[in-house]
Amino acid sequence: MNSSQSAKAHCAWAFADAPIFERKIRISTQYMPLPLTNEEKEIFQLARPHLQVMSNELHTVEVVGFCLRLMQSVGGDRHIVIPAAILHDTGWAKIPEKVSQKIRIPDGEKESIKVHEEISALIAELILRDVNYDRAYIDEIIAIIIGHDSRRQPLSLNDKIVKDGDKLSRFSKRFLPIWPQWGDGAEAKDLFGALSHGVKNWFFLSDSRKMATHELRHRMAESRSRLENL
Ligand SMILES: [Fe+2]
Repeated sequence: MNSSQSAKAHCAWAFADAPIFERKIRISTQYMPLPLTNEEKEIFQLARPHLQVMSNELHTVEVVGFCLRLMQSVGGDRHIVIPAAILHDTGWAKIPEKVSQKIRIPDGEKESIKVHEEISALIAELILRDVNYDRAYIDEIIAIIIGHDSRRQPLSLNDKIVKDGDKLSRFSKRFLPIWPQWGDGAEAKDLFGALSHGVKNWFFLSDSRKMATHELRHRMAESRSRLENL
């Protein structure tokens, strides 16, 4: 059984009550536009209905933004990295939020984490086929998505960029206040402690570590300035 068949077998229940594509849904994007190609924008537009839980749209925008920044310094294949980043968390919307909050925790139960990865991979494959995405890229994109949380060892430079971009989103100015609402988010009172731990332990690329350090300094400076202005 290949990964797509496995995802379908695992997750048939998730699609019982909802169409996979909602082209008619128009969700205005409230976030800064990303410098995406028209094809990438189309993929994002199709992903958007699947990102309307747990602030996943903002999270995804930040992940894509960090992946773009990382690719400027480390390379990687944009045809793989950007669709994988856009689509990697589309599966959360098919899982009841109460369940998500329980499994989206550090060292969450692996089989449950796999469910969201497999649903995301299935949705990704359908969206990529829908936009007639080059078949040569789809298998690698799906392989990245299907292990983006559960697989500890990265498959490639493209995989490292997506994994690191996913973690870097926690350091962004817009996403940091939202992170504590996720099951895996740090306690609000110890955000900077959790992020300092993350700088040392989360990243595969030294450029990601540098970027995280830089972002963390900014977040701490912003916090100090807020306190001084109270
Ligand atoms: Fe993510």
